[in-house]
This record gives sequence, structure tokens and C-alpha cells, in this order.
Amino acid sequence: VWGDPERCPKDLANGAAVRVTGTVRASPRQDQQAIELHVDTTEVIGSCPGEVYPLATKRHSLEYLREKTHLRPRTATIAAAMRIRSSLTHHVHTYFAATAFFQVHTPILTTNDCEGAGETFGVTAPAYTTPRSRAASVEPPAQCRTTTAAKTDDAAHFFGRPAHLTVSGQLHAEAMATALSRVYTFGPTFRAENSNTPRHLAEFYMLEAEVAFGGLDTAVGIAEACIQHCAEALLADESAVRDLELLWAHAEANGPTADVGAWTKAVDAPFARMTYTDAIGALADSAVEFRYPVSWGIDLKHEHEQWLARALHGGPVVITDYPAAIKPFYMRRNDGDATVACFDLLVPGVGELVGGSAREERLDVLEAAIPAGAHDALDWYVDLRRYGTVPHAGFGMGFERLIQYFTGISNIRDVIPFPRHVGTCRL
Ligand code: 4AD
Ligand code: MG
Repeated sequence: VWGDPERCPKDLANGAAVRVTGTVRASPRQDQQAIELHVDTTEVIGSCPGEVYPLATKRHSLEYLREKTHLRPRTATIAAAMRIRSSLTHHVHTYFAATAFFQVHTPILTTNDCEGAGETFGVTAPAYTTPRSRAASVEPPAQCRTTTAAKTDDAAHFFGRPAHLTVSGQLHAEAMATALSRVYTFGPTFRAENSNTPRHLAEFYMLEAEVAFGGLDTAVGIAEACIQHCAEALLADESAVRDLELLWAHAEANGPTADVGAWTKAVDAPFARMTYTDAIGALADSAVEFRYPVSWGIDLKHEHEQWLARALHGGPVVITDYPAAIKPFYMRRNDGDATVACFDLLVPGVGELVGGSAREERLDVLEAAIPAGAHDALDWYVDLRRYGTVPHAGFGMGFERLIQYFTGISNIRDVIPFPRHVGTCRL
């Protein structure tokens, strides 16, 4: 509030950086805002040409803002989402520190494909830095040349073999769990998935926990407790609640995320649980016509997951014991049938939030499950069973999906500062 409008600088436009001093007072219109600033001095530090500044004072669509990735954190919505993201990062670490876990830093560069889905981003280096050409060439080429040889000839690889960006820190976390017992890793993960959906990114953050001397129930319990801890911590923080309320209020306008904020009621009760076989039965018995037909053996699609979480359970649900044929090699085979001791935690709106399992700790069963051609690369992983094998289990949680669940933001691209997905890597 400027007592005298003449004291308001002429170049004070939307987008400018300013330093303002004055007195904070209760606003006379309490129904609209709590406080106001009565200005003594104003200094425009960085002026902003309002006519061309891409952010107007009106409300922009989130689609539009995505094209102004570097400017959008200045909007109330994205700023609120980024503050919630920061708080949740903190709450994740406090949960694990309070429950006797050690944080481990698993590598981003790796020669293993944990999920075996072939969705890895390859890593190449300029030809002159590879071991062979370093010895052979005197003059490094001026440009980063990735020769055909570098792709096909192992000796020309920087690491002496093909390397890529990690799709999951799990295998390395397992190695650490055989020493430190309870470990977690929380960092960027990369998938060259051709999935153009509001739930997939090519670069996302994954929280992964791994526990020795534990089984499926241990892993489910930790995932549940971690989410509940994060929920309680957010709701106990006044400024986080203000941000959440702002995001929930706009969520309806931004997309079809029903049940926004409903988690505050569902989240502290124990999560519902059912087997994959029962889930398939319930889906088949429902009167719903799904786009993808339901039968035992299919991988659950988003529409099925949504129905299970939203319609059947009205909150988070843990689905266990999927068919081995649709799950990765490392999941522990259940005795006597074709399923594995695994789980997916589904939540309304988002669908799959967490995926985890008991790990196959029996040497012979693991060796038989490793895909053809992967035995050499995974020999170190098999060592973990050769030398003092131990039952263990763990999970991975998509951190952006957790933020989506809590904020009601329907597109995953709006809960990470700089989204990368198929076709788009701005900045
Ligand atoms: O289910 P996923 O593929 O499981 C694993 O990678 C295991 N190795 C984790 C473990 O047991 N340590 O991925 C785990 C979670 C998913 O449930 C999902 O929330 C998230 O990671 N996720 C993605 N999030 C954003 N974009 C993507 N492309 C994602 N792919 C998986
Ligand atoms: Mg999964």
C-alpha cells in the first residue's frame, strides 16, 4: 500500500525485482487477505518490460507455462508445488533417519539394466577419450565425435563396455543391504520409455529402500509408513497446508484429477490389500467395460489400477503376487504357483505409486530366472547369493507421483522443475 500513489516508481511493472521496506499491518479486508505492507521506500533492482514479459497477471494454463519452464517457478502454482517438493524431500529423509536406515548413493552410470525392459539411455564419450583411441591418437578431434566403432567395439567404450544411465538403484542397494542391513537411495532415474502420459518422465526421482532379513510384508509396511509419515508431516506444517490448499483449489481447473485432497482422510488408516488374482476377479466381476480386456496374466493398465484404488477401495491399495511372467527376474518366486512375492501400491488419480518385492535369494532359482545373455553382467549380483545369501526385500517409489498424489496436480510435468519426457528436453 503506497500512501501517496506518486511514491510508486513509474518502472514498477509485473516481473520486476524490487526491494520494498515498510510496515506490515493487519489488512482491513480480512476476508480477502490477512496482512498488507505499508510502503516507506521502493527500489526497482531489475526492471521488467511488462509488454513482452511472458507471464501476465492473469492466470495462465499449465500447458502454456510448461513452454516457459525457466520462468514458471515465479507463478503461485508452480512455486507452491516446488515448496511441497522440497518439504517432501526433507520428510523422506527424516522418515528413514528415524527408522534406522542408512542412505546410500547408488550410481547413475551403470552397466546393468535392473528392470531388463531395455529402456536405458546409452552413455557415450568423445572418441578421443576412450582408452584405445587415447593411446592411438595424438591430436584429439575438435568435436565430440562418437564413431560407429565406439558404439560397436567394446574396446572403444569409455568404460571398456557399454554403459547407460540407471533405471533403478535397486541392484546396488541390494549389495549395500547385505552389509548395512537397512538402506535407502533417493536420486534421479532415467527411462527411455516412449510413454507420453501425465504419469511418465524420462528423468524422474525414485526413492528406493532395501532391507536384509525382511520379506514382502516388511517392504509393504515400510512403504506405507513412509507415505503416512510424509502425509502427517505435511499436514502439520502450516505453510505447506496453505500451499496444498492453493493447489487443491486450482487442481479441478487444471485437469480431471478427482478426489483431490481426499488422501488426508484415507492416509492414516492401514492400506487395503489384495492379491493380483483377487484383483483380476474383482475387475472381471465389475460391470465396467475396460478398454483393455481383463484376464489372469495381463499386466494391469492404468484404467484397471484406477478402478481398483478409486472405485473398489476409495483409497490406497496394495496388490500383491503378480504373475512371474510379467515381472522382472529378481522377484522372489512363490512356492507352488506361477506368481512372485511382489507388490504394487496403487493410489487414486496416480495409479501405481510404488513397486517392490521380496528378492530371489535362492542361488539356483535366481540363476534360472536371469534372462539369457545377462548372466555375465549380473555375475556380481549372483555373488550376493553365493556368499551368505539372506532373505531381503525392497521397493521403489516414484517421487513425482507422490507429489502428484498429495497436491492433486494431474500432470507429472508440473511437479518437477525441468521436466524431460519423450520429445522434450527444454533448457
Ligand atoms: O515399478 P518400478 O519400475 O520398480 C523398479 O524400478 C524397482 N527396481 C524398484 C525397487 O524395487 N527398488 O519403478 C518404481 C516406481 C513406480 O512405481 C513409479 O511410481 C515410478 O517408480 N516410475 C516412474 N515415475 C515417473 N516416470 C516414469 N517413467 C516412471 N517409471 C517408474
Ligand atoms: Mg512397476
